[in-house]
Amino acid sequence: MTTLTRRALVLTGAASGLAAGFPIRAQTADLSHGTFTHAVASGDPTSESVILWTRFVTSDAMDGEIGWEIAEDDTFAKITATGKAPVRARHDFCVKVDVKGLQPGRPYAYRFLGAKSPSIVGLTRTAPAAGAASMNFALFSCSNLPYGWFHAYRDAAQRPDIELCIHVGDYIYEYGRGTYPTFNDSVPDRILWPEVEIISLSDYHRRYASYRDDPDLQELHRLKPFVTVWDDHELANDTFDGGAQNHDPATEGAWEDRRARAVQAYLDWMPIRQDPKSGLSIYRRYDWGDLATLMLLDTRMIGRSKALSYWEDIGDIPQMDEAALGAAAQKLSSGPLADPNRTMMGATQEAWLSNELKRSKQAGAVWQVLAQQVVMGAILTPQQFNTFMPADATERTKGYTMTGTRVARYGLPYTLDSWGGYPPARERLLADISANANNALVLSGDSHSAWACNLGDRGGRPIAVEVATTAVTSAGMEKWLTGAPTGGREAALTSTNPELAWCDGTNKGYAMVTLTRTQATATFVAVGDVADRSAGVVAETRLVSEASASGPSAWVKA
Ligand SMILES: [Fe+2]
Repeated sequence: MTTLTRRALVLTGAASGLAAGFPIRAQTADLSHGTFTHAVASGDPTSESVILWTRFVTSDAMDGEIGWEIAEDDTFAKITATGKAPVRARHDFCVKVDVKGLQPGRPYAYRFLGAKSPSIVGLTRTAPAAGAASMNFALFSCSNLPYGWFHAYRDAAQRPDIELCIHVGDYIYEYGRGTYPTFNDSVPDRILWPEVEIISLSDYHRRYASYRDDPDLQELHRLKPFVTVWDDHELANDTFDGGAQNHDPATEGAWEDRRARAVQAYLDWMPIRQDPKSGLSIYRRYDWGDLATLMLLDTRMIGRSKALSYWEDIGDIPQMDEAALGAAAQKLSSGPLADPNRTMMGATQEAWLSNELKRSKQAGAVWQVLAQQVVMGAILTPQQFNTFMPADATERTKGYTMTGTRVARYGLPYTLDSWGGYPPARERLLADISANANNALVLSGDSHSAWACNLGDRGGRPIAVEVATTAVTSAGMEKWLTGAPTGGREAALTSTNPELAWCDGTNKGYAMVTLTRTQATATFVAVGDVADRSAGVVAETRLVSEASASGPSAWVKA
């Protein structure tokens, strides 16, 4: 049996190509004129591995192979590992490598090698092994490009203490230009591609490319490893298991087909360890030494029952008389809202999470961090919101606000799309945390406002604490309730809602979290006007929760 060397293979390929009358070029990509189009990125670090990402478009748009190397620092004097990675047109020329055999808890530099020149150098770091003293990460959600500039990403890239970026979704939005935001609310120079709502695989790919053209996002990816989960807009608005509000099978085809395309584009473009063959499941776990276990959840797509809707399940609430509303609210509360079969994660993921919590606690991890999409704190719309509407409020603003304030009198939450719309699922999760976690920290996004919550009660201590980050750019209540005095929305919300320790219903930005063996510090970073390219950080608010043998303490302002 002949052992074929690489040289022999190349020669054989060349010979057979010639013999068949095909040009040799058809056998291999022309890598000599390829281009690194979107810098580099890294993600999903463990104590011995990390995902490296780039995108290399060959000049003839053919499949090929490029090199990569990872080194102890950006001089590349000491190369730790090197190898080759496939470039595939069907993956939109996105290149991913799972580099193994690295040392725990240390920085690395990496680059990809085209035939002519290397890529820009990226920086990353591995997770620590046992004994880690701290974990510092930034939390992002809801980065809608035409709404404005990514000040949050730019600021985080400049902070050397941030070791990891966690993005809990709405990393892209699926709408066509002028839909959300409207053309009126879109910032000039923030041009979305493709122009239309994304439905095909090439549309989804093109949208990621459009977002990753942003220099602030590109630089943050280059400097820090990311860990990500999708929310709904990576697929379509208000995704659930089986469909989405913004998907019409009659005109846009089968949901399963669109979902598969959205998932593939996500896995191609994000530095995530899952590969397209692993199907729809992206819930997963990473350890940060024995300090923290990071559990990434999918509460949106894989196991979520369709959200209830005040409009569909009750009716035109602002117009209803009190008796009719009271009866309908009671029916909703004791009916579908109380149905234990309505889930956020699905039974399989719930069981997986329960096991992971137990495993983490048994391993002695101080913190169990649940990174997921939607707000878990119980939030009712304050009655004062009726007076915060501007005199010229739109019918839409009036409808939303009056619906929220009226249902709040019956204990119904400001949105049915978050955990408040799935009370038995929330209770099951909090019971699981209470039984099986040491100190649980829930991370959330999606709402476009910032929240620090004390979830549930366990003998005077919360069962878990929550950091819900505001949007990077997407507009929130500050855009509709413009008649509020300064601090008015925040004061009304915190006085109405016992689980709410602090909130910011005014600013865009992100959150930073530092975990140590004794406490969690959440720093909510507020940025200025996202329509103004030169705006920066305008405020930082710090809250602290102490870890203990009986769970975390309630948030206190530091
Ligand atoms: Fe969002």
